Amino acid sequence: MSKNSYYVSTPIYYVNDKPHIGHSYTTILADVLANYHRLLGTPTYFLTGTDEHGQKVQQAAEKNGLTPQEQCDQTVVRFQELWKRLEITNDDFIRTTEPRHKKIVQEVLQDLYDRDEIYRAEYEGWYCVGCERFFTEKDLVDGNCPECGRKVDAIQEANYFFRMSKYQEWLIDYIETHPEFIQPDFRANETLGFLKNNELQDLCISRPKSRLAWGIELPFDSQFITYVWFDALLNYITAIGYKTDDEMFNKWWPASQQLIGKDILTTHTVYWPTMLKAMGVELPKTVFAHGWWLTGRTKMSKSLGNVVNPMEMIDRYGVDAFRYFLIAEMTLGQDASFTEEAFVRRYNSDLANDLGNLLSRTANMLGRYCDGKVPMIGKTVVEFGPEKELWDTVQLAVVEMESSIDTMRLNSGLSAVLTAVRKVNQYFEIKQPWTLAKEGKAEEVGLTLTLAAESLRVCAALLYPVMPEKMTALRKVFGLGKPEPDQLTAFGVIKAGTVIEEIAPLFPRVELKKEEEKPVSTEPVKPEGVITYDDVMNVKLRTAKVLEAEKVEGADKLLRLQIEVGDEKRQLVAGIAQHYSAEEVIGKTIVIVANLKPAKIRGVESQGMLLCASVGDQLKLITVDGELPFSGAVVK
Ligand code: MSP
Repeated sequence: MSKNSYYVSTPIYYVNDKPHIGHSYTTILADVLANYHRLLGTPTYFLTGTDEHGQKVQQAAEKNGLTPQEQCDQTVVRFQELWKRLEITNDDFIRTTEPRHKKIVQEVLQDLYDRDEIYRAEYEGWYCVGCERFFTEKDLVDGNCPECGRKVDAIQEANYFFRMSKYQEWLIDYIETHPEFIQPDFRANETLGFLKNNELQDLCISRPKSRLAWGIELPFDSQFITYVWFDALLNYITAIGYKTDDEMFNKWWPASQQLIGKDILTTHTVYWPTMLKAMGVELPKTVFAHGWWLTGRTKMSKSLGNVVNPMEMIDRYGVDAFRYFLIAEMTLGQDASFTEEAFVRRYNSDLANDLGNLLSRTANMLGRYCDGKVPMIGKTVVEFGPEKELWDTVQLAVVEMESSIDTMRLNSGLSAVLTAVRKVNQYFEIKQPWTLAKEGKAEEVGLTLTLAAESLRVCAALLYPVMPEKMTALRKVFGLGKPEPDQLTAFGVIKAGTVIEEIAPLFPRVELKKEEEKPVSTEPVKPEGVITYDDVMNVKLRTAKVLEAEKVEGADKLLRLQIEVGDEKRQLVAGIAQHYSAEEVIGKTIVIVANLKPAKIRGVESQGMLLCASVGDQLKLITVDGELPFSGAVVK
């Protein structure tokens, strides 16, 4: 790795809700990459933070009865605490409400305004509240937001615009001549497709305070605040001294890798590069978009109740196992599926059986046959036979791991390390140190066990960036501290005569509790037909807006509804077609059971159930009396 510095960033997270697995994943990925670069001796900087302005945060504050700043201050702690528990080693944490950020955003805006890169104009068009974005008539898909499919509002107002359109040709050329800029390649093609098939519009970078007050005031017009994305994207440079600390800025910028989820590709590969171009600042070397974590095959969503809570997983299986699973299971760029079954399977096979077992075997045999000490076998490896084969496999893991970081195929890097771990276990089977000991071949036993210990040392160093706590414990057994860059390829690093430290099993096997094995509740039996407060609270009732409706083919009673539940779009099948026509239900705000397990009705997936009142053959939908500011409200 020839780079002389490495700067990695995560998106900054909205503080409208607590962190979930998606946030944890990008942050762990950045942490693992940062750790690897440190391990390879590259000066490294790792930035994460929170996106604290804009409509989402203001709405969350209103919902929670807080001021927006209180909302930010309370939620940011949850992110910071989780990062601490997840052993995240970020060098800085930026909050966009901090003066150091706001001041520079205003300076950038003023400079762009003075140079006519930003201008004022009357705007007439369509606005999606959820995405906080403007669209032209042409952009809309079936009259709805092209990004999220929700209803858009017609608006007319004065605003400020960034001359993004003039950079269209330049950006196409830049992406085509810098294949490393957008990764994976197919995401670059996605952005190029968008740029080649559409006329790029200027970007509206303001919001009138009358509509949204929570944001950074425009320095040249106090009636407006800055569009949240224009403010947020700048965090990547305000945090590292842009316009305040040239030395620091020049040391780290351009960023080596900006990690994002695939849903925020346009903002990072169209808005961000054109903003930087207008500012006269170099572009980041790479924007890397990863896929989504799904629950099984379904999108995670709060209202479906299938969002993986990182804290729960950590409590159950430990931080390092959680980090390992996320990195080993996802092929970067693709979506991946999270299930507890897959987690337990991988934990038991890779960590408990292969790695944990190898450590116990090696330590036990060193205890039994070598007086509990690592014997002396010199600084060179035996250059033939099973010894050579094993050491070659270990060294191949070093090479594979390093190249997997460059090519962002971390899962194959990890699999090369696990292959080396298994190879040590096979090496024991070939050499059978227990038989050698019986035969009194002490030197041969010493050679075998030292080679195993050295192999474990290298594997633990390669796994350290992913599992820092467990690998520190493993290395301590052999009297080693943190891994050092030049020790990956060296042999004989463990000092001869080192006394082996005792250690409890590193990864004890875990069992996935089957439903019937879960402890039986000791609560008194309830009278029949009576439910408890907890039973009520388990049913998640939400309001939902009906966006579309149509009859299900071949089923007289069924309507297929497309509904909006807060930020999410869902499909629901309801047996109301004999009481309501499709047109009658569109636009109604209904009440649904949001955490019902999805089911197929006549082959059509239904994600929830709507509530009705019925007497005899009459049936009426339960609807909401009057307007609420958004759908997805809790019904209580
Ligand atoms: N605030 C913006 C980012 C501004 S960066 C200048 C934002 N925040 S977010 O909190 O909504 O999302 C942050 C990241 O989490 C995104 O990259 C998104 O892709 C990621 N994830 C959210 N849910 C996810 C999964 N289920 N799986 C993987 N990542 C997903 O967008």
